[in-house]
Amino acid sequence: MLTLTARERPAAILGPGRPESRVWSFTEAGQPLFPVLRARVGDRLRATLDNRLPVHTSIHWHGVRVPNGMDGVPYLTQPPVRPGETFAYDLALPDPGTYFLHPHCDESGQAGRGLMAVLVVEGDAPADYADADLVVAIKDWRLAAEGGFLPFETREGAGRAGTFGTVRGVNGTAGPMRAAVPPGGDVRLRLLNLDGTRIVQVGVEGGAAALIATDGQPLGPLPLDGDVDSWRLGPAMRADLLVRAPARPGEILRVVDYGSAEPWTIAELTASGAPAARGAFAPAPLYASRVPRVADPAAAERRTFRFGASSGGSLADAIPPGDPLARVLLDSLCVRDTSLWAINAKSWPHGPGAVLPPPLDSLEAGRPYLFEWINLTPHPHPIHLHGHTFEVISASRQALPRHLADTVILNPRERVEVAFVAAPGDWMLHCHILEHLEYGMMGYLRVA
Ligand code: C2O
Ligand code: CU
Repeated sequence: MLTLTARERPAAILGPGRPESRVWSFTEAGQPLFPVLRARVGDRLRATLDNRLPVHTSIHWHGVRVPNGMDGVPYLTQPPVRPGETFAYDLALPDPGTYFLHPHCDESGQAGRGLMAVLVVEGDAPADYADADLVVAIKDWRLAAEGGFLPFETREGAGRAGTFGTVRGVNGTAGPMRAAVPPGGDVRLRLLNLDGTRIVQVGVEGGAAALIATDGQPLGPLPLDGDVDSWRLGPAMRADLLVRAPARPGEILRVVDYGSAEPWTIAELTASGAPAARGAFAPAPLYASRVPRVADPAAAERRTFRFGASSGGSLADAIPPGDPLARVLLDSLCVRDTSLWAINAKSWPHGPGAVLPPPLDSLEAGRPYLFEWINLTPHPHPIHLHGHTFEVISASRQALPRHLADTVILNPRERVEVAFVAAPGDWMLHCHILEHLEYGMMGYLRVA
């Protein structure tokens, strides 16, 4: 039995000798900000959330095919866990892979302060698959020079591509990750984009690399040289790479983000120590996925969802300016006082959180579906469906191989098709740019 205590504590994000920041974390001062939980496929995970924060929270197991009651969405699948309360999560782990967990309330503020953990579910490869297995959790921070957090949301950012961090970082500290790896060895890199805004485009310099998993599910392997030389990760997306460490001690392999104006180094792996005994670089596929597949997507039932701007109107317009009671009400609901975004012209509504909007759609459990997702906006949106792993079937404005995922980027004006078999429950569907979901681009599906 694991206890995840959510607490405020100091952390040296800016680095040694620099001012500390007051983060929210599941770990104590001095420990890595993001804990890495390791389990094996088929294990039952029992974890008690102990909320020592001043606000209510919850845990969503992003990408894990959980029973609906364990999905961690306040008001929809469980009551919010109030300050001083606990909640016992109990879930089987049906799939191996790289996952993470985060609160599902005031996500820009809570995840923005660091309240997340990485979950590695082993069991998709033989034990000697790699000589090292490293977690690379990418996240920027909204920090002022004296270490304090800046506002997580801005009107400008919320209405466009989101509000970016001021300090880029990996694994809870500023700057690239640095690690020593065995010369000539194979290294499994578990890349997670835990940022709430930034889309990264990951490539590798200084050694051979192959993409072996997307959102925890096996792919290819797809060598990152020819046609595909990089892979985009929007907020919440993961990619596992197998890379070959340089043969000579002291040489460096770099994982680089090519998605920003200047390429940014995410990780520097330096060959050092005893060399690994490996032949030519020939990554083997991971074990086959256990996710139910849609055999014939063209024959599946089709549903269309349009991601767009809201038509306006908000609770804030209806309450007298400065009404303190309304302010308290809004703060207690995890909703913002305006909406900017919508799915099928419906914005995640304002009003008491316990009063849920109707579902966006109703589906039948066990049936195959083909969802058509259309982005009506000039901004990219990484769209996430809870409780399912879907197959990305087609995309109109990017060359994507068919792959399994729980989150997929919709480019501006793009149309993407995904197929999946519906599992019973109420499942959130939303953009994972945190300000976009907080400002309306969120809804849920009812599967019965
Ligand atoms: Cu990581 Cu509702 O999402
Ligand atoms: Cu979005």
